[in-house]
Amino acid sequence: MDQTMQRAGNFLPRVDETEGARNEVDRRVVSLTAPASGAAEQYRALYYRLERMRELRPMKVIALCSALPGEGKTVTAVNLALTAARANLDRRILLVDADLRRSQVAKVLGFRSKPGLSELLQGECEIQDAVRHFRATRLTALPSGASTEEPSQLLAGRRMKDLLRAVRDNFDEVYIDLPPSLPFADAAILGPQTDGVLMVIRAGSTSSRQVSLALEHLAGAAVVGCVLNGAEGSATPYLKSYAR
Ligand SMILES: Nc1ncnc2c1ncn2[C@@H]1O[C@H](COP(=O)(O)OP(=O)(O)OP(=O)(O)O)[C@@H](O)[C@H]1O
Ligand SMILES: [Mg+2]
Repeated sequence: MDQTMQRAGNFLPRVDETEGARNEVDRRVVSLTAPASGAAEQYRALYYRLERMRELRPMKVIALCSALPGEGKTVTAVNLALTAARANLDRRILLVDADLRRSQVAKVLGFRSKPGLSELLQGECEIQDAVRHFRATRLTALPSGASTEEPSQLLAGRRMKDLLRAVRDNFDEVYIDLPPSLPFADAAILGPQTDGVLMVIRAGSTSSRQVSLALEHLAGAAVVGCVLNGAEGSATPYLKSYAR
């Protein structure tokens, strides 16, 4: 019975109003906490836009990036991955927190962040120890793990390449939360190894020059669209597709 309810999309966990409470999903994960809301609908629109792009060319590994900190990459990545998991019960979905600097995915989803990507890339654990299965959804998450002194070096290393190869074999859709591209090299390192990068742009705060510079930093990566986040003061992101 429980399973039937979840399959019907009625899975609504109790959410504590206290932000950051352990084992509680953050309220901003609207795709899970408020699936009927306008914001959740916008994430569905974004997801199906991506699905249509996938009909033109396969895109398994998608990274979320932005020019500057705080533009909404993590909230978008988490909601998009959950939307994917709810939309396709037969697909295996992975969310990777590749922001080894200000990792938030584990906090937002309410689970422990260690061990995670950082330990995996340092050879301290195996992938099965690092991934979490998120409640009753089809979502698997790889949190960031402990902070490290040299995130760029770790992300540029052979183990990261091996990991990306392995996840391509084992998942149908992979969403990667990246750090901002202007201050750090990480996005420029990982972006070209993905099938597509979505640029999150905070409405009314990031200048077009900053966005252009960020795109230059990502040279070599396939930027497939942008998400204008927080438009008109509302919590509704939407996707504008680049003409390609
Ligand atoms: N559409 C939105 N409406 C309202 N608040 C939002 C929206 N998107 C993000 N936020 C808030 O803005 C802040 C930054 O969001 P988030 O952590 O997703 O950004 P980020 O780009 O991942 O930041 P960082 O560069 O630090 O990793 C958070 O407090 C988040 O809840
Ligand atoms: Mg983030």
